[in-house]
Amino acid sequence: MEFEKELAAKIARTDEIVQKFLPAESGAQKKIMEAVNYSVTAGGKRLRPLLLSEMSILFGGTEYAEQKQDIIRPFMAAIEMIHTYSLVHDDLPAMDNDRYRRGKLTTHTVYGEAMGILAGDALLNLAFETAFLAFEAAQGMQDYENIALALRILGREAGIYGMIGGQTIDIEDTGREISEERLQKIYELKTGALLKASMQAGAALACARADELETVGSCALAAGLAFQIQDDILDVTGTQEELGKPVHSDERNQKTTYVTLYGLEGAMEKAKEAAKAAIGFYDSLGRENGFLRELLLWLIIRKK
Ligand code: IPE
Ligand code: IPE
Ligand code: MG
Ligand code: MG
Ligand code: MG
Repeated sequence: MEFEKELAAKIARTDEIVQKFLPAESGAQKKIMEAVNYSVTAGGKRLRPLLLSEMSILFGGTEYAEQKQDIIRPFMAAIEMIHTYSLVHDDLPAMDNDRYRRGKLTTHTVYGEAMGILAGDALLNLAFETAFLAFEAAQGMQDYENIALALRILGREAGIYGMIGGQTIDIEDTGREISEERLQKIYELKTGALLKASMQAGAALACARADELETVGSCALAAGLAFQIQDDILDVTGTQEELGKPVHSDERNQKTTYVTLYGLEGAMEKAKEAAKAAIGFYDSLGRENGFLRELLLWLIIRKK
């Protein structure tokens, strides 16, 4: 219970940070700002910016993270913008064709399909505009190098070697029988990559070494797999009320998931295994952030 309370408080704080970077709704192109703000303020767990911030604390300590907040916060907002764009596009009629997200009508349902596409585009661009703001707060060479590395991580993991790559295989394989190996690859890319970007960027901004970043990456991919398997499970066992998005979306879209491959029990076992692997990588870093460790375990017991 203590953890859940701390999580709720941290999510609220993360939400405030993200909201500060949203655009004012003005000008002739006001509609796109409205669609962007509608998508981001709809809610959501804010897991990725939270992971980014907790990783910066893991490697830099609370005082360092506080001192560097003007560098870390733009990245927190940026990763949530990229994630939100991925959801806006994932819900489009051409993809999963879902009407609800985060407890509200999906962006394209409210603003129309063209505006849904543009809102996703806008969020992706805005993410980088926002992350670049970190340079303005940088104080020396070390900050510049850390920011440049975090930007490279963000760019790569969000793109064709990461999330977009995963969504590509997911769409290509829709309606097909696929192996666990292929499914794991899809999950590492479509979901793991943005967790990897969050965790590695947070670590990079707090001066983690290259070998540590490697371990953080492995931890994130395992956590991403656990997280996506739980998403599959909730698609079957959850309620729209609790999840804020439609259940049985995977069945309707003829997706192979861990549940279709192994059944509910089997999928839960696989999620546990992946979470255990994530914790193994985390522990091997030899650093202390009790909240972050619990957060990694919570990914597979979450109900939304
Ligand atoms: C949903 O992510 C998409 C997946 C990768 C499963 P989240 O479950 O983190 O969605 P929000 O941000 O809380 O809405
Ligand atoms: C989406 O996977 C992962 C993304 C990169 C957006 P899903 O299609 O299962 O996500 P939900 O269930 O719609 O949130
Ligand atoms: Mg999808
Ligand atoms: Mg979907
Ligand atoms: Mg899903």
